[in-house]
Amino acid sequence: MAMREIVVDGDPILRKKSRPVEKFDEKLATLLDDMAETMYFENRGIGIAAVQVGILRRIFVVDVGDENGKIEFINPEIYERNGTQLFMEGCLSCPGKNGYVERPERIRVRAQNRNGEWFDMEATDLLAVCICHEYDHLDGILFIDKVVEVEEEELEDGEEE
Ligand code: NI
Repeated sequence: MAMREIVVDGDPILRKKSRPVEKFDEKLATLLDDMAETMYFENRGIGIAAVQVGILRRIFVVDVGDENGKIEFINPEIYERNGTQLFMEGCLSCPGKNGYVERPERIRVRAQNRNGEWFDMEATDLLAVCICHEYDHLDGILFIDKVVEVEEEELEDGEEE
């Protein structure tokens, strides 16, 4: 496993549409492992999309710290969205920025795992938020495009305003 460099906002790759994964091979497994390592290393990282490490493929990894643990989504499709919730989001590619985004309260998503097998799951609360956020990355959308209310980052002790 190896850390990968995070692409930050301003790099045009983040605005591109990712392509489907066709090969479920060793290279994909390595990418998934590297993405997880990079996500866990960065503070508060609960999700990461492949485009954030410069790979334009429809892949993301999430771990919101619940009983599901780490989940890998390849070629995902969110096919049902219900309700709304407002949640404070951030993004590894938008350092220092946070803001409230409206997301579905409950979703259903299907995707392939690293072996190419399809699975189907329901997600609510933070997990639904995280999946929707990462899913947007696959189409070049960032949370800052959808923010309804910006939260100023609090200044640390000693910092000048
Ligand atoms: Ni993000």
